Amino acid sequence: METANINETVVFLMSNKITIIGSGHVGTAAAQYCLAKRLGDIVMVDVQEGQVKGKALDLAQAAALDSHGSSIIGTSDYAETADSSVVVVTAGIARKPGMTRDDLERTNASIVADTVAKAMKVSPNAMYIVATNPVDTMCMVALRAGGMAVKRIVGLSGVLDSARMCAEIAAIARVNVTNVYGLTIGEHGSTMVPLTRLARIGGVPVPLLLSQEEQELVKSRTVNGGARIIELMGMSASFGPGSAISFMVQACMSSVPFLLPCSVYLTGQYGVQNFFLGAPVRLSEQGVQEVVELELNNQERQDMAKSVAAVGEKARQLDLK
Ligand code: 2OP
Repeated sequence: METANINETVVFLMSNKITIIGSGHVGTAAAQYCLAKRLGDIVMVDVQEGQVKGKALDLAQAAALDSHGSSIIGTSDYAETADSSVVVVTAGIARKPGMTRDDLERTNASIVADTVAKAMKVSPNAMYIVATNPVDTMCMVALRAGGMAVKRIVGLSGVLDSARMCAEIAAIARVNVTNVYGLTIGEHGSTMVPLTRLARIGGVPVPLLLSQEEQELVKSRTVNGGARIIELMGMSASFGPGSAISFMVQACMSSVPFLLPCSVYLTGQYGVQNFFLGAPVRLSEQGVQEVVELELNNQERQDMAKSVAAVGEKARQLDLK
């Protein structure tokens, strides 16, 4: 009998199976962070069979040195993703210099619809995390294609944008970034709303430590956080998105909810009627348990209204409303 390859005869040892669709930079980084956090066994799926098997084999070979003990395989066969606890959608084309996330819309809509429909056939009860851009409208595409309950689908936006905001606050305030907590809500795009007023450094409100001018600098750097990386590297970020995805996967596997910002289906909250936008939610293995409505000041309400209008218009253009 031919000796099986280490990543072709894996037995799923743990109850939690995490499927990651797309083995590009973001998908691979997400797999690596999920393994490092021991969140479960990983199945990477991609139409590029050589790439996805190679990425998984690379991670499987490293497992002998890592302490997670989880299994990871790469495949093009959705049957191997069956009964996943969480499905992460990263498949699609990524931004190049000068592109906006919206420029990806039509191409990625068909990829997201196809991949989510295939995943739902074998994992109808999974939590779905969409990372493909433009994520707020891609969540709507995934919902239409998958037909899952709206509480079982969230988009990667606020966790990543809030991390970028906290990193900028820490740099300007000259404190350790682990000392900073804050929220960015709204579109995962140019109209996002970094809430520096509500951010805290060691429990101290940021407005007591940073001037209005410094807060505006934090906001502009947060909004341009992704574009800045593309300008520097000619490709989009992967470590920030990968780490943010792993945090969301952790929440989607937790019996106790995490409170975190993500793209979520809103039914009137923040003035949003029946489409996805970034808001703080309680998220657990049961899905979105609650959308948290914050008390925004006038400027924040105006900024959020711009986000609502921008994403609402895109949803209409894609006939997603
Ligand atoms: C970002 O903001 C890829 O949308 C992701 O970097």
